[in-house]
Amino acid sequence: MGMKWKPILPLLVLMMNAATAAEPPANYDETKVPPIVLPELLKNGDGSPVKTAADWTGKRRPELLALFEKQMFGRAPERPALAFEVQEEAVPALNGKALRKQIKVFFTGKKESPGMNLLIYTPASASAQSPVPFFLGLNFEGNPSVCEDPRILPRMEPAAGQLANGQPAPTAKPAAPGSQTSRWQVEWLVSQGFGTATAWYWDIDPDYDDGFKNGVHALYPDFEKSRTGESWGSLAAWAWGLRLGMDYLEKEPLCDAKHVALHGHSRLGKSALWAGATDERFSLVISNESGCGGAALSKRPFGETVGRINTVFPHWFCGNYHAWSNREPEMPFDQHQLLALIAPRALLVGSAEEDLWADPTGERLALEASAPAFFLTVGEAKSAKSPLLQARQAYFIRPGKHDVMFSDWQAWVDFARAVWK
Ligand code: GCU
Repeated sequence: MGMKWKPILPLLVLMMNAATAAEPPANYDETKVPPIVLPELLKNGDGSPVKTAADWTGKRRPELLALFEKQMFGRAPERPALAFEVQEEAVPALNGKALRKQIKVFFTGKKESPGMNLLIYTPASASAQSPVPFFLGLNFEGNPSVCEDPRILPRMEPAAGQLANGQPAPTAKPAAPGSQTSRWQVEWLVSQGFGTATAWYWDIDPDYDDGFKNGVHALYPDFEKSRTGESWGSLAAWAWGLRLGMDYLEKEPLCDAKHVALHGHSRLGKSALWAGATDERFSLVISNESGCGGAALSKRPFGETVGRINTVFPHWFCGNYHAWSNREPEMPFDQHQLLALIAPRALLVGSAEEDLWADPTGERLALEASAPAFFLTVGEAKSAKSPLLQARQAYFIRPGKHDVMFSDWQAWVDFARAVWK
């Protein structure tokens, strides 16, 4: 046995060197960005032009959706019929300023299956007679982190896992209660008349490369049995969970489900874009600093690249996406086309000036390049102040680093109010 394996070792070392050598260092120099050619937005795969909203909806949009599903995020199983359990009925919270509800949403439609804990706050005045618009998003560190409220149910700690390479998997970083308060702004949001719903993204799929053996992937064994390069990765799994969250919000009496804004930061912004692209029930989608694989153009060599993201996070995208590592110029799609799939609903892309890894300029250029699909589909222009608002788009950039700040929330709420008027 030992003899048999020996000659392979040097080969493995060689292959590993080749993989690292193929990863050029990140570029942060705008003068080194060559002119790029973006794949066509308003032209069908067969070369015919997309002239009307009906052309877009009937042909181009489904074609692009299929392309992103096949090449980037992967196909997910059908969502199960909604099954949930009310863990906590609406009770006064946050010193009487809010109502809190906690719901377990099951992942297979069966009440004994694993699920996610959805934590909900609304203004204290919300009722079935006066439901409120909502913000829905996944959180990084567990529900107890989103605000200081000792009654939030603890997160469900996943069993210790294994990486695809057999090493022990990392465990989720423990989160202190309220540690993410500034990123969630729950008290302020309810004071402004909005509801907020969130779940921990690890509830859906722990964020490490386990070869798709755990999380929701494990709950769909028949689907996984025929896993191919087109099968769902973790970003698609989180997006699938967000859609299940929306399935619940449609049943939630305190929620005005016609006005649900889906938001996500960074990797969760990538998932929010995919969930928003695939699910037209979200009337507003907010991508915050989602960068590579999110709102930023892949063909711009600036900050994170497709090769880097596939190497460091091999479980995020579908297998087929790995073929595009370090081949961005040849890619037949780019992120402006993903953003366009949100049209004619509203889209806000947020960037931070110092978040160069996410390429703020690439995020803005993708939004701009997606605009023709919005103008084509939005229909009668609203009496709006800016052309961006007419197109139901917003780009927001603020000073500072990669984060969610109060100023981000202010911009998101301003935009939500403008488009929901
Ligand atoms: C890494 C990764 C990014 C991602 C970010 C995050 O920096 O390279 O693509 O957006 O993590 O999710 O915080």
